[in-house]
Amino acid sequence: QHFEMAKEPARVLVTGAAGQIGYALVPMIARGIMLGPDQPVILHMLDIPPAAEALNGVKMELIDAAFPLLKGIVATTDPVEACSGVNIAVMVGGFPRKEGMERKDVMSKNVSIYKSQASALEQHAAPNCKVLVVANPANTNALILKEFAPSIPEKNITCLTRLDHNRALGQISERLQVPVSDVKNVIIWGNHSSSQYPDVYHASVVTGAGEKAVRQLVADDAWLDGEFITTVQQRGAAIIKARKLSSALSAASSACDHIRDWVLGTPKGTWVSMGVYSDGSYDVPPGIIYSYPVTCENGSWSIVQGLPINEFSRKKLDATANELVEEKALAYSCLI
Ligand code: NAD
Ligand code: LMR
Repeated sequence: QHFEMAKEPARVLVTGAAGQIGYALVPMIARGIMLGPDQPVILHMLDIPPAAEALNGVKMELIDAAFPLLKGIVATTDPVEACSGVNIAVMVGGFPRKEGMERKDVMSKNVSIYKSQASALEQHAAPNCKVLVVANPANTNALILKEFAPSIPEKNITCLTRLDHNRALGQISERLQVPVSDVKNVIIWGNHSSSQYPDVYHASVVTGAGEKAVRQLVADDAWLDGEFITTVQQRGAAIIKARKLSSALSAASSACDHIRDWVLGTPKGTWVSMGVYSDGSYDVPPGIIYSYPVTCENGSWSIVQGLPINEFSRKKLDATANELVEEKALAYSCLI
């Protein structure tokens, strides 16, 4: 037989869809970049009433682009309608950081949104809906969503650190002048904030003569332990400074990478970074959303276990964990 049964459309929610990441993300989803070129989609787009007209404009453009995979559009300011029956939820809605602010500064505005949207998702999303939180503070918003949606399996609630992971790949690729697709297995540990730890102790480059360790190829520990780390940690701020707006196309593209690998699997021998609910792996406190190296298979992720952690890395894993424990307390204090 030379045909496959047509797949049922997947319903994909994007909150904050009238914003800048939304504008970059929805066409990627409609083109099959997130779920694959043979997966039809129905886009659910949520925003708030002041953005309703702009949201309708995005809907008009989606119609005008005549995407073959796009089988329907729900554009609404009603969280219940937006969440109904969704298989994937990409939570971008919220207030972005401006120049001079830390991601923590957007905490009080955003955690209360995540508390209320947790209930809408819990009650109306499809069973087994996969959730990706992009809006900052991403780890803590995801944690609040998890806590207020107790019937959604905790394995289904994640946050985006894939952008940081991709930034780390990009920095190594630029430094070594090798294609970014040949660099693999960097790790982002911890928070999507300036305390994150971009770790290249286990990273490698695929060469004609097999895989070579990044640390051996770069051969400059001062750069790897200094400027490389701070560049990745501060990249979000550098983009804000340059664009006067926070990153959007790279955030949208990385969100597609995150969901695609989660649903369709990571390539053999490769891991990626995802913010997931900590189970205590690598002596990280349980009960926070922490970025780990993960592999994905059959629609679920598992933390890569058993990597040796040296003293330099240990301190950095702990520092970013401590920040997340503090953020959790701060988030709860905002909700009272
Ligand atoms: P933006 O301001 O352009 O868009 C945000 C949209 O969310 C707006 O249209 C706004 O009306 C909408 N919104 C506000 N409250 C809402 C609610 N309760 N429900 C639904 N929608 C709501 O911002 P942006 O540049 O698209 O960034 C979105 C978020 O993503 C920010 O929090 C930003 O800091 C974060 N971000 C995260 C990463 C990451 O890697 N995790 C990367 C870039 C940006
Ligand atoms: C980013 O990393 O680009 C985003 O989180 C935006 C920000 O506030 O840094």
